[in-house]
Formats: sequence, C-alpha cells, structure tokens
Amino acid sequence: MTNCMKNKDLLKEKGIIMWSDDKIEAFQKTLLDWYDANKRDLPWRRTSNPYYIWISEIMLQQTQVDTVIPYYERFIDTLPEISDLAAASEDTLLKLWEGLGYYSRVRNMKVAAGQIMADHNGIFPEDYDAIKSLKGIGPYTAGAVSSIAFNRPHPAVDGNVMRVLSRLFEIELDIGKASSRKVFEEMIHLLIDRERPGDFNQALMDLGATICTPKNYKPETSPVKDFNASYLNETWARYPIKQGKKKVREENYVVLAVPTDEGEYLFQKRASEGVLSGMWTFLMIPTEVINEDGWKSFGGSADSLTDTQAELLVDYIKNEYGLIIACDNNLKGTYTHIFSHLKWHMSIYEAVVIGETETGHSLHAIHPDDFPDTAFPVPTQKVWEMVNTITLF
Ligand code: ADE
Repeated sequence: MTNCMKNKDLLKEKGIIMWSDDKIEAFQKTLLDWYDANKRDLPWRRTSNPYYIWISEIMLQQTQVDTVIPYYERFIDTLPEISDLAAASEDTLLKLWEGLGYYSRVRNMKVAAGQIMADHNGIFPEDYDAIKSLKGIGPYTAGAVSSIAFNRPHPAVDGNVMRVLSRLFEIELDIGKASSRKVFEEMIHLLIDRERPGDFNQALMDLGATICTPKNYKPETSPVKDFNASYLNETWARYPIKQGKKKVREENYVVLAVPTDEGEYLFQKRASEGVLSGMWTFLMIPTEVINEDGWKSFGGSADSLTDTQAELLVDYIKNEYGLIIACDNNLKGTYTHIFSHLKWHMSIYEAVVIGETETGHSLHAIHPDDFPDTAFPVPTQKVWEMVNTITLF
C-alpha cells in the first residue's frame, strides 16, 4: 500500500473523506492563484533566509502580523546572523522581546542558535528532523521553516489551518485536543502542493487570517467556497469544533510601587521557572497575606486598604524582603493581565522606604531614567503607567 493510501485510510477512520486527486489539484490551483493575487506583503516573505523565517514564525506564534513587523525588523537588525543570536546577552534578548510575552521562546532560540553553531557549523539545517530537534522547535515551526525556506512539503498546522480545514471538510474533531493536530497534518500531507509547499502553507495561513476568520466569517466571500463542504451544506457555523476550554486560574495580588530616597523604584526578580521567569516586577504580594480573617482573597473587589491590612502588608514586606515601609492605604489603580491559562488581578498601591532590617533588603533598585533600557514584562509596564500618571503621595 502506498503512503498516500495509508493516509487516506487513517482519515477515513476519523470520518474524513479525502478529495480525489483531480479535486486536490483544482483546490491547489484556486488557492495559489488567490494567494498570488492577494498575498500580504510581509518582510519575512522577501527573504529565503531560514534564520529570518524562523524568527518570524516564533514571533507569529505569539501575536498578530502587524505587531510582529517592527519586532522582527529590530531583531534581524540587531542580530543579523545566527552567531549573533548564539552570543547575545540575556538582557539584549529580553529587550528585543519586550512586550511580546512568552520570554522562554527567545531563550530557547538562543539555545537553538548555539546548537546550530555547535552541530551544524553555524548553518541552519535543511533536514526536517534536524530542524525539529532544535530547542523550542516543534512540528509547526519545523514544518513552516522547512516548507517556506527550503521548499519541502511539510505541513505547518496551527489554529488557523485547523479552522480552515475543519470548515472545508466538516471535521468533527476538537481542535483544542493535541491528538487532533496529527489528523490535520495527515490531511495537509495529501493536500499540499509539492511544487510550492511554502506558498501553499502560507496561503492557508492568509486565508485563515483574512477570510476564514474565527468571527464575522462570510464563507460566500472565500476564493475556495466551491470546495467548502460546510458552506455548501450550510453547516459552517458549527465549525471548527472546540470543546472544553482549559480552565483559567485566577490569582490576586497587591502590587507595591516603592520609590527610594534616590528616586529609584524597587523591583523583584521572578523565579527562574514559571511565568515571566527571571523578569522584573514591582513587589507582588498574594492577597491572602492581607486577609484579616484568613480568607482566601479579597480578590475582585479591590479597594483601599484597612489599617489592619496595611499593617499585615508592612509585616510581610519586613519578613519577606527585609525592608521597612510605610504604605499608603489608597488604591492607585487595578490592572488584570491575562496569560494563556492564568489571570493576574493586580491592585496597585504605593509605599515609601523608611528603613531596612539588619540583614538588608533583597530587592533591586532601578531608576526611571533606566527603564527604557530594562526589559520589563507587560504587567510591569502597565503598573508603571498607572503609578507614573496617577501618583504620588
Ligand atoms: N502566521 C504564521 N506564520 C505566518 C506566515 N509565514 N505568514 C503569515 N502569517 C503567518
């Protein structure tokens, strides 16, 4: 049995009937004609440098094309060669990534650049498995880079592509399940244009981003509407299937902005594991600490502090950081930061330093003049915007 027949059987088990070869060919032509006439002019489409394409693909996993463009240009200006990335300092990398989120991605890229220097003489590998064995590169990124930079027929299946295929084939699989992606990859193996695999993958991405959108989808405007089973059967509103979203964890913090006598602010470094690892934040204190009655939290109803809560806070800061503060009870503002499965509800207050314990404090002082050169994650930037505008006591 040929590979292709095996693929088709596998899909049949999942209730997916693949098109005939003629129909696949007609689909490829329609999609690529549309792409040629409508493709978005993006900076990483003007190069075939796999290093640059890799950078763009990692950035595009985090945010929209429009946001990525200036980040991408700055990154390749600052680190034009793989060797530059391998040698870059953590500060440089975090600054280049500041505001994009998921900082572990850029740290992984540095490790991968080191692997390329050590194992591939500094030349980006062409082989799919070699690409996939680089740190931080999974099947999506490996497929995107090998198809776009090296013209190899590998699938690059992300959420956009799953949405497009779900609607075209009325697929009943939950696109949120990890096991579903493999099925979509099998489909792309059969559908992909072998002459232009990179353009084929990018055409699906563009279709997903501009026409086959999650909301306000108008299937009648799609260049491939004649291939779209869910449009023809009027079932398109049902697809893609997305069940049981992961529960979002909610955490509540008191955030303290604490200026020193020298006009610096005090920051803590986050642990080396977990969200925003190794990044600077203002002092973040879980609200449990200030619950007079030992409640779980005072959560959503952020408000001015009672005197008792302020005392609890002062005690905690003394014990935890070796710092003696006086806290202003008035709430300066609130900000909620949403990570993928975590929300931080932050209630922002200000305090001043009045001393430190004998052992000294464990915090790091940074002057606002140096903020532009410091890599702050978005929650820190937001808190600073509030403190800086609403301030001060
Ligand atoms: N999203 C992810 N990769 C992309 C690409 N190469 N072009 C446009 N959008 C994308």
